[in-house]
Amino acid sequence: MTPFSLQGWPMDDIADPYPVYRRYREARSVHEGADAFYVFGYDDVVKVLSDRDFGRVARSTEDGIPVSLPVPPEFAVLRTVVENWLVFLDPPEHTRLRSALQKEFSAGVVTALRPRIARIAHDLLSRLAGEADLVGGFAAPFPIMVICELLGVPAQDHEQLRDLAVALQGASSTRTGSSRFIDAEDAARELDAYFRDQAEQRLPGERDLIALMAGIPLSTERIVGTCVHLLTAGHETTTNSLAKAALILRAHPELVADLRDHPDLVPTAVEELLRYDPPVQAVTRWARQDAVVGGTAIPAGSRVIALLGSANRDPARFPRPDVVDVHRPADRHLGFGIGIHYCLGATLARAELEIGLRALLDGPRGWERAACHVEYAADMVFHGPARLLLDLTDSL
Ligand code: HEM
Repeated sequence: MTPFSLQGWPMDDIADPYPVYRRYREARSVHEGADAFYVFGYDDVVKVLSDRDFGRVARSTEDGIPVSLPVPPEFAVLRTVVENWLVFLDPPEHTRLRSALQKEFSAGVVTALRPRIARIAHDLLSRLAGEADLVGGFAAPFPIMVICELLGVPAQDHEQLRDLAVALQGASSTRTGSSRFIDAEDAARELDAYFRDQAEQRLPGERDLIALMAGIPLSTERIVGTCVHLLTAGHETTTNSLAKAALILRAHPELVADLRDHPDLVPTAVEELLRYDPPVQAVTRWARQDAVVGGTAIPAGSRVIALLGSANRDPARFPRPDVVDVHRPADRHLGFGIGIHYCLGATLARAELEIGLRALLDGPRGWERAACHVEYAADMVFHGPARLLLDLTDSL
């Protein structure tokens, strides 16, 4: 078998990587790949993400710089922004920042946001007509506008923030070469200036997330890093989930009918869609010490990539894993990860997906049957269509 890698994945196979995962997983759960150890089986992915033998920060360093940070040192602003991201911290720093932020992502806060989330979804969908891009016109602006609400930044800035978030996120794509960092560094500079300015403008008594962080108080670097992190973590993930949900529904007309007749099934459908085709296919960890996973020895300092997409299709955990079944109890899927880095925005994301899916089911007439052209982004980590063009001319 050729050594596995997510880098340079063939575009022809990008929409459906699951048969490839299956081939490797059936051979064994852990493979030493070209650039990392890859973990395919459900139980072993859970082990890597839950076990203290694996962390986000590599212990080995080159010239005192942790080698685990995904940005080369010459891209200084990007690096400072990214090293403040919750997802790149280990305890105790991770624990401190996560507990400071947790309250703002509670069920109560999300419930209060629901009417505004619904308004945004319906407004965007009501504007789709003629030749429409479901990603550019709905799935992408929707979560960015919700995050703007949460952060308390002007809604009219959402397009600029989205473009910058996409440019910055390009640095983490599975494209090879370092050219992807150049645009990301420019985007990081602009985002840094934007959020510094926002943090300075906050007055005591304001109640948005930036004001909360300024009041804790967190350092300006932490505030800027967290704002950019939320923008990227909460944006492409939700966008890709919605776009993939639309594609799965189009391929299963019986499911569309079932959900329209039984809207109470939407929350379990959201979980099943996140299991079946998760928008985050893989997460990285570093071995802090020698470890054994799935019978494979992993030396200290190794990079380990846990394949959430493969684990969610492991038949040892999910019977008939390649079937979309909205009646299955999909509560243990790994779409939001597991362990201490479990998605901080999961409650918000679930609300956005539930509201977005309901709005889509009631949305532009005949979208699920309209002629469609799909282009996937060249990224195997943040995975999903970059464009989903629908011909809605007949639905006018
Ligand atoms: C972490 C998935 C939406 C904020 C994660 C992780 C996954 C994930 C898999 C774990 C990363 C790891 O273990 O390395 C998703 C999916 C989403 C989504 C599938 C949508 C369908 C959101 C939203 C926000 C958000 C809406 C906030 C606005 C975060 C943060 C972390 C995180 C801050 C880091 C948590 C930590 O390190 O403690 N997400 N996410 N996510 N997510 Fe999400």
